[in-house]
Amino acid sequence: MGDMPSLSLNSGSQIPLLGFGTGGLGPLRQMSDAEAGRAIGAGLECGFRHLDTAAFYTPSTSSQARRQIAYPKSQDISLISPQLPPTGLHESKVEAWMLRSLERLKLSYVDLYLIHFPVAMLGNDGEVAPHTTEDGRVRFDPEVSLEKVWKAMEKQVKAGRARAIGLSNFNSNQISRILKVCEIKPAVLQIEVNAYHQQRLLREFCGRHQIPVCGYAPLGAPGTPFSSKLPTLIEDPAVLAMAGRYGRSPAQVLLRYLVQQEVGAVFKSANPGRMRENMQIFDFSLKPEDMKLLDSLDRGKEARIYTMKSFIGVDEQPEYPFNAPF
Ligand SMILES: NC(=O)c1ccc[n+]([C@@H]2O[C@H](COP(=O)([O-])OP(=O)(O)OC[C@H]3O[C@@H](n4cnc5c(N)ncnc54)[C@H](OP(=O)(O)O)[C@@H]3O)[C@@H](O)[C@H]2O)c1
Repeated sequence: MGDMPSLSLNSGSQIPLLGFGTGGLGPLRQMSDAEAGRAIGAGLECGFRHLDTAAFYTPSTSSQARRQIAYPKSQDISLISPQLPPTGLHESKVEAWMLRSLERLKLSYVDLYLIHFPVAMLGNDGEVAPHTTEDGRVRFDPEVSLEKVWKAMEKQVKAGRARAIGLSNFNSNQISRILKVCEIKPAVLQIEVNAYHQQRLLREFCGRHQIPVCGYAPLGAPGTPFSSKLPTLIEDPAVLAMAGRYGRSPAQVLLRYLVQQEVGAVFKSANPGRMRENMQIFDFSLKPEDMKLLDSLDRGKEARIYTMKSFIGVDEQPEYPFNAPF
């Protein structure tokens, strides 16, 4: 893990504050499995030891990428966190998906296993693509109990397949429901966090319940195929000016902004130069007035990039997390 500071999970373990996202390394960005495998390898060479993977986007079909992912595990210095996909969101499917992830990653356990998204979708066994109707709407399973799914996640810890379990994209109400029934508390919440979309209320809620937050899309996902009405965060004039004042890049400023608030940051890059650049954020601090200036960039919900609305009808589902205030 080198010198990278860590985020302490309430499970007792730690995750490196900066994580390497494998989302976007693959078909979504017209990248072949071999290229994705090379990018993951370069990330590991740069020293990243927290790999964010998911059934949705990890190039797990590529044996090269699999080897790259398995490589640091053999030295027991990594944190690999795969995620239960929405088509696996049912208490009867958790174990099979967990075993599938272990098989694909060639691991006997994972450090952290997350529920990717709280809306259950119907799909064939082992497939992440949900069933759709003729008009392209996704077929959902509104009867699924998130509480029962969490109980099945807890069994994975007890069986030694996951060291810690956590949530992604859950809102405060859904987290409260899990907290009421849990024997093992969610070790972390992974949500979209960046200077335009700060999620302060949800982060404060997590703080009150000692649930650390890890932010994805910390750079505002420049170049994402998912649209946002806002300008590109990494080109925001205030961010550019601040980067100039510190002699740093805009990406370094944006990542530093999160880790300085004890929020983990999972970014993606396929570019080794940028990977190295993004890692060099622990040798400077942003002044309080600059932290305040970045605080003021918050645009709230309108800045959310990953609404998941490409799953047509998702926002009409009772468990759609982003209709709630926070
Ligand atoms: N749990 C969830 O539901 C969820 C949802 C979305 C994402 N995620 C995770 O979060 C990760 C990051 O999200 P994201 O990729 O959407 O957003 P992001 O990390 O904010 O942005 C990634 C983009 O920033 C560019 N970039 C990286 N470093 C840069 C630098 N120093 N200067 C300029 N541009 C730079 C990358 O381009 P290059 O590759 O060309 O460097 C890439 O296009 C994903 O990989 C995934 O693991 C989780």
